[in-house]
Amino acid sequence: MKFNAPRGTNDILPPDTLKWQYIEKKTHEIFSNYNYQEIRTPIFEYTELFQRGIGEVTDIVEKEMYTFEDKGGRSITLRPEGTASVIRSFLENKIYGQAQPTKYYYIGPMFRYERPQSGRFRQFHQLGVEAIASNDPALDAEIISLGMRLLQDFGLNDLELHLNSVGCGECRPTYVDKLKKYLNENKEQLCDNCKSRIDRNPLRVLDCKNDSCQSVIKDAPKITDNLCESCADHFNDVQEYLDILNLDYIINPLLVRGLDYYTNTAFEIKDNALGAQDTVFGGGRYNGLAEEIGSRDLPGIGFALGIERLLLSLEAKDIELPVESGVDLYITVIGEQAKKESFKLLDQLRNKGFITEIDYLGRSVGSQMKSADRMNAEYTIIIGENELNNNSATIRNMKSGDEKEIQLSNLLEEMKQLVDKEDI
Ligand code: HAM
Repeated sequence: MKFNAPRGTNDILPPDTLKWQYIEKKTHEIFSNYNYQEIRTPIFEYTELFQRGIGEVTDIVEKEMYTFEDKGGRSITLRPEGTASVIRSFLENKIYGQAQPTKYYYIGPMFRYERPQSGRFRQFHQLGVEAIASNDPALDAEIISLGMRLLQDFGLNDLELHLNSVGCGECRPTYVDKLKKYLNENKEQLCDNCKSRIDRNPLRVLDCKNDSCQSVIKDAPKITDNLCESCADHFNDVQEYLDILNLDYIINPLLVRGLDYYTNTAFEIKDNALGAQDTVFGGGRYNGLAEEIGSRDLPGIGFALGIERLLLSLEAKDIELPVESGVDLYITVIGEQAKKESFKLLDQLRNKGFITEIDYLGRSVGSQMKSADRMNAEYTIIIGENELNNNSATIRNMKSGDEKEIQLSNLLEEMKQLVDKEDI
């Protein structure tokens, strides 16, 4: 019997895991720099949280959730995103009683039963931020600039920031009525999927890539022309703050997000090199979400970035993350006694922070050296009976080929000189 990982999931193997660690490390650094704190919520929640939070008439809730009944008969769903959980946690733990705004971030796996393709998986990983309890447009700009800063730090400087406002409970219903009327007038030109969306979720029609739908969409009424005064002001202020930060953006009135909780600001960062799944990160304001899941009026804004898409974007641009794998010293041993003495040295070196390796397969010296090479060892040393008797051995720089005779009892000191290690 042969097992494969479930469709749409990936094993992340070394050395790629080093890239993931690097991304996670940078995320912790940069998010902390903006004073966001890490939150860890469960990987599964009660299904109703997502139904109410994300919206019943969304692709995620209608088609993509991993939902099952647990042994207690409760309906459980593997989280398809992080925002609803963060707000649930904020309310449940009464964080509103603390100084506001609250700025959280998270990193972790999400699950959506989507059709797998490049950049789209069933288990994927997001790093996300949520700034809760303030409606200040400066915070919208902070959130966006934080995402852009992260991308810049990875060497991605040329991605497009698409910006829109999707209005609020006041102005959106009037706009949606206008849009519905227009779409009904042009219904014949729409694809079957969009025809059925007119009544259920007409905003999603704006997102359809079908050519015939596109020709209808281009002349559709625009949400940005139909905002109420307060939404229009908010949108203008967000742009002003982005200008202050010198962040370029494209106003895109067709930008609608796949989750229903958005109000006001919506944005996506796109990389044209990625093909169909071109959004590296997306987010927006969700001032109505807390009310939907907990009866409290609580503004919030955030984004989530897909780590797999970030990696694809880096790959498309031939950007190598500065990660290195390798060992500082490979100890090649000859004979039982040398192995035992070297094992002690190995432990001492590791205790001092040197990445040190030894043979565990009883191989010949030649094979051990090949192993050292494969492991990218910076230095090697051969220790046999003679070396032990003379308390001296030759340490070799694998890159330059330079060799140096050293006292074995001095190996630790020598390594300190040779390998540039902080904190040693
Ligand atoms: P989202 O647009 O559904 O938003 O997902 C955010 C990002 O997750 C996408 O831009 C993409 O990079 C990645 N992503 C989504 N689905 C997949 C998939 N099937 N495979 C690979 N990557 C994927 C949210 O999830 C919101 N919670 C974002 C947010 C936070 N809004 C406010 N706060």
